[in-house]
Amino acid sequence: MNKKIAVIGAGHVGATTAMYLAEANFADIVLVDIVEGVPQGKALDLTEAGPVRGYNAKVVGSNKFSDIKGADIVIMTAGLPRKPGMSREDLLTKNAEIVASVGKNIKKYAPKSFVIMVSNPLDLMTYHMQKITGFPHNRVFGQAGVLDSTRLRSFVAMELNVAMTDVQAMVLGGHGDTMVPLPRYTTVAGVPIGELIPKDRIKAISKRTAGGGGEIVKLLKTGSAFYAPAAASTDMCRSVFNDEKKVLPASAYLTGQYGIKDIYIGVPVILGAKGVEKIIELKLTKSEKTALQNSANTYKKHLKVLGY
Ligand code: LAC
Repeated sequence: MNKKIAVIGAGHVGATTAMYLAEANFADIVLVDIVEGVPQGKALDLTEAGPVRGYNAKVVGSNKFSDIKGADIVIMTAGLPRKPGMSREDLLTKNAEIVASVGKNIKKYAPKSFVIMVSNPLDLMTYHMQKITGFPHNRVFGQAGVLDSTRLRSFVAMELNVAMTDVQAMVLGGHGDTMVPLPRYTTVAGVPIGELIPKDRIKAISKRTAGGGGEIVKLLKTGSAFYAPAAASTDMCRSVFNDEKKVLPASAYLTGQYGIKDIYIGVPVILGAKGVEKIIELKLTKSEKTALQNSANTYKKHLKVLGY
């Protein structure tokens, strides 16, 4: 194939992303990790699944960053995951070091790539990655909104016992406790959920969405979610590769939209061949806007810890 995707980190999120990408069959994949043998073993295993699953994407594992050379898209999943009781922000300084070292290699070996961030704390690591690479903001963005809204979509579908694919949802703000699920912009086959679900249940579903990552950490005990994060990353990749111009929430760099600037945070964007092609400004109520701005202010404080 003439397109190449580099997935950094061969843990659960990275390897599952490589699997979904291989099945999507639109690009070759290089899986990079510092642990010897793991990316090679997982890549070989994925290659051997190809004849049965019906894909021809080449999947290669490596311990060398030079092997990301020529990648069109880099998906950054490396970093420590949460353990029960931890917030994503507890990972800040350790994962910032990892992002800095990977970012330098992306700049060196894949200077024209798009970078999709998955490592936590997501919005802060996306900001950090853009600073380290110096890439234009449209080429560095974070996967979180697709994950948070797919969680909301699935909870709404479970509540109403309807097809999950018929539910559309929008979740804004940071990928953390301050995220802002927007029930007003959440619909089932075009019908706003306010007409279908009682208020107290919508509240409970929104709360479950905001704590969705933590719910899985608590169940798994040794790490965090990976199927839904990997599915979300694959969806974003496809929108860029095929210039689909999907409208989805992503962590994007704001320059005054929603009254917020110089921060990465979850907002609806159009994702196409130029990466983040447009940031969409939804009409928000006063309380929704305040919630989004509070989310941004929390992150401003954390960015100071990183020296920004
Ligand atoms: C989650 C982690 C991966 O939300 O941030 O599941």
